[in-house]
Amino acid sequence: MTSPSNKAIGWSSRWTFIMAATGSAVGLGNIWKFPYVAGENGGGAFVLLYIFCIAIIGLPVLISEIIIGRNAKSNPTDAMLKAARQSDVSRGWAGIGIMGAVTGILILSFYSVVGGWILDYLAISAQGFFSNNDSISIIAHFEQGLLSNPNTQFLWFSVFILMSVGVVAAGVVNGVGVAVRIMMPTLAVLLVVLLIYCVQEGAFNQAFAFVFNADFSKLTSNSVLEALGHAMFSVSVGMGAIMAYGAYMPDNASIGKTAVTVALFDTIVSLACALIVFSLVFDNGIEPSAGPQLMFISIPIAFSQMTGGTIFAVIFFALVLIAAWSSAISLLESSVAWIDAHTRFGRVAATFAIGAISWTGGIACIYVGGIFDGLDFLTSNILLPIGALLIAIFTGWKLKRKIAKTQLADLSFGQFNTWYGILRVFTPLCIFAVFIYGLWDIFF
Ligand code: TRP
Repeated sequence: MTSPSNKAIGWSSRWTFIMAATGSAVGLGNIWKFPYVAGENGGGAFVLLYIFCIAIIGLPVLISEIIIGRNAKSNPTDAMLKAARQSDVSRGWAGIGIMGAVTGILILSFYSVVGGWILDYLAISAQGFFSNNDSISIIAHFEQGLLSNPNTQFLWFSVFILMSVGVVAAGVVNGVGVAVRIMMPTLAVLLVVLLIYCVQEGAFNQAFAFVFNADFSKLTSNSVLEALGHAMFSVSVGMGAIMAYGAYMPDNASIGKTAVTVALFDTIVSLACALIVFSLVFDNGIEPSAGPQLMFISIPIAFSQMTGGTIFAVIFFALVLIAAWSSAISLLESSVAWIDAHTRFGRVAATFAIGAISWTGGIACIYVGGIFDGLDFLTSNILLPIGALLIAIFTGWKLKRKIAKTQLADLSFGQFNTWYGILRVFTPLCIFAVFIYGLWDIFF
């Protein structure tokens, strides 16, 4: 039984929590998905909508997850159980923790497949594949070399899962904590290098206009759905990943300030990535709405056409790898911590067992058609919104107000009530409305 109930084994600094949570938040969602979804939805107006969703839904739920995690200092399922007991409400609320653990395992399955593609791209970048190459061979590499070649995918995907399992098996303090303190500053440096290059050499002004000029006529009802779902996915709320990390947050650190910092970092990285991606894309006359292929075809074509393409391709894919890796480890933690606390197998065995389940799921994604998209849809559009909705309702209406007040002790009366009011009313209503609307649109 190793639960972080002893303060000595928590993280010693609030910055480790910030880096771990930012590591979880900043991932393929920011670098791969955000630019192409923004591109497909007309740019600026979508970006505004997305920022609104982060503020009204992502941030309030993020704060709730940290409160529940730090209040109990244990894995999400036991943390929910403890909070429910302290508040004299049904222990059934602990189901949020279990559902979250399962959601994490499912997300990790398809997320790691893309993580494997990134490893493949990093490897071929380092071999100089993107120096003066033509677009035909780049398209062929993605479509025939990778997508139609399950064995290559399987190889890289397995490496990616092992990398994530390795960090989590080493523990939250000595594994995750140490890893993120190295990975996050590296990520920041790589991001700045790419941004400087794009300002100097890319079509930066055009990219800037695309990302920040709001043309609301381009928004469809589906854009609203995408913005909400992606906002939750991007700040990693709805499945207890941040709750699990919250258990390790020092007691004297401000949850409010920390959560705002994490949400801000996540949004800044998304915007910076969109600027980088569109600078490269516009510079080469490629359409911004290229879709999921943006990162695997359009960007690599841009690299092949510039001087120093190999170096920038390596920097770019290293950045994406770090982002994906630090997110993947957070997907493991909630289930691993639970098994670790309730069995005698120990943390290492627990991590390998959970890793093996996700590995099986990933193999299904690679070898069986439709599973990848099915898992993506099930988790992003159904399980995460339900999880976030329940966390908001629980914290807003069921959890004893005193517990929230104690955890948010540094907030002023006005700040606390702003958070509480939004969480109780706006957050659930927005999630519910968009969720029902989205399902309606798909099934009817
Ligand atoms: N936020 C990550 C991204 O943007 C993905 C992720 C990691 C996640 N942990 C999560 C999403 C927990 C939802 C819940 O790529």
